[in-house]
Amino acid sequence: MTDENTIADAIESTKNSKKVLVLFAHPAQTRSEVNVPLFHEAQLNKHVTAVDLYAEYPDFNIDIEREQQRLIDHDVIIFLFPLYWYSTPSILKEWQDLVLEYGFAYGHEGTALKDKLFLCALSAGGKEEAYQTDGFNHYTIKQLLQPLEQMAQITHMTYIAPFALFGSRTAQEEARVHEHRGKWTTLLNKLTTHTLDLEKAKRVENLADLCNSKGE
Ligand SMILES: Cc1cc2nc3c(=O)[nH]c(=O)nc-3n(C[C@H](O)[C@H](O)[C@H](O)COP(=O)(O)O)c2cc1C
Repeated sequence: MTDENTIADAIESTKNSKKVLVLFAHPAQTRSEVNVPLFHEAQLNKHVTAVDLYAEYPDFNIDIEREQQRLIDHDVIIFLFPLYWYSTPSILKEWQDLVLEYGFAYGHEGTALKDKLFLCALSAGGKEEAYQTDGFNHYTIKQLLQPLEQMAQITHMTYIAPFALFGSRTAQEEARVHEHRGKWTTLLNKLTTHTLDLEKAKRVENLADLCNSKGE
């Protein structure tokens, strides 16, 4: 293959690539063993924009116009976070409250997010068996994330299952972070190349079950 072909292929693949926005929220990053490595992995993918919300907005002074433009510029929106009190860390709530304005994200003429893909990538301290209707936490992760699912519906986005790691506090010592990071790389590649089976991705409990850990 000639250099010209290689360059043409690269341009073509960039044109066809989906652009992924990772909005990362972690207020205590020096102690993070799971989410910070995933954030760093996301930064390596040239089709992914990885935003550290707590670093950009330490005073929660969120730039609404900039955030709305970021949403417009991307096809896939991911919230990356550790589960805090069965929900997101607070900056992601503030971000939703300010950025998803009437007339932009919902309501009459509020269609800026139409047909974008939305998902959560999260880690939970609790074990997977605790997140069952008959388990310690009484609800599955999918059920607990229903406010975000409904946020996606009302803003005309396509919602798919969360990408979750359970038992996150012992994941490092049990050598599970490496595998999870590989699955995350695979997921980001599938999203940017538009090769994720969306029907399956809506149905499964955990997107991690659809990804191998080889990053392919
Ligand atoms: C304020 C706070 C609230 C938390 N709430 C939950 C929770 O509701 N459910 C849960 O499984 N883990 C909970 N955890 C544990 C975190 O989810 C866990 O520490 C995190 O997933 C580890 O990710 P990291 O290594 O990137 O910090 C909480 C931790 C903190 C500090």
